[in-house]
Amino acid sequence: MSIAPSNPLPPPGAAADWTVPQNWRGYTPAEHAMWDRLFARQAAMLPGRATSAFLEGLDVLRLSKAGIPDFDELSARLMDLTGWSVVAVPGLVPDAVFFEHLAHRQFVAGRFIRTPAQLDYLQEPDVFHDVFGHVPLLADPVFADYMQAYGEGGLRSLQYGALDKLARLYWYTVEFGLIREAGELKLYGAGIVSSYGESIFALEDPSPHRLGFDLKRLMRTQYRIDDYQQTYFVIDSFDDLLQQTLQTDFAPLYAELAGLSDLEADAIVEDDVVLNRGAQAYAKARRAGSSSSSTNR
Ligand SMILES: [Fe+2]
Repeated sequence: MSIAPSNPLPPPGAAADWTVPQNWRGYTPAEHAMWDRLFARQAAMLPGRATSAFLEGLDVLRLSKAGIPDFDELSARLMDLTGWSVVAVPGLVPDAVFFEHLAHRQFVAGRFIRTPAQLDYLQEPDVFHDVFGHVPLLADPVFADYMQAYGEGGLRSLQYGALDKLARLYWYTVEFGLIREAGELKLYGAGIVSSYGESIFALEDPSPHRLGFDLKRLMRTQYRIDDYQQTYFVIDSFDDLLQQTLQTDFAPLYAELAGLSDLEADAIVEDDVVLNRGAQAYAKARRAGSSSSSTNR
């Protein structure tokens, strides 16, 4: 599918597909040091918390090498493993552009890195979130196929005007998903594993709900963009996630969802498989303004 004409044009200096050179040589020593600081903090806390596929991806892609990764080097390794590559973009890109890249096994990544003042929270994804958070799982063959399938499904969702529903699948899996591994909950969502605070919160805090993955239910569920999630959905395996995505006929599902009301981010409904019913204390405290005003993501 070509990019819809209503999409804005790429900014000056970007190619027609919105990519830009990473300009790796342009990073300053302070920017490389920021990556190293973030990397060291997450690498120390994620073993035992993150899914083994994520930790193996860090290893096989040699992401522990000091400094911000060079996308060309990283892409060469990734290409050998799963046929994916990482391309730089100047910021957020239109949905159709994002999906086109995924459908062609290209992951778009921001090239800037946060400042020390933004250590725990920034609005736009930077190179640490995009590369540390997302790229390790692209070395996993099944997750790599899921991301491509999501891109293809994303393009189709635009035709059905159902992007808001499908976006919830990305949010509650690729960004904030949990997985059951050998009977234990582990992290795999990029928004979690790239965040020190949410890595602990998602797994160990009694506040959020943890529910079994259910595609239709999840696509009715609102989510938080500015704070820790109130509900995390738990998959059984990447293979199950991929198969459910490939085998679902989304057109009738979108039609059905159009007639159903959205569910609040902290809802529990009758057919939910409740692994942990959260007390929602964190969210209630935040709403009451009795907690700190930083969001620590
Ligand atoms: Fe992300």
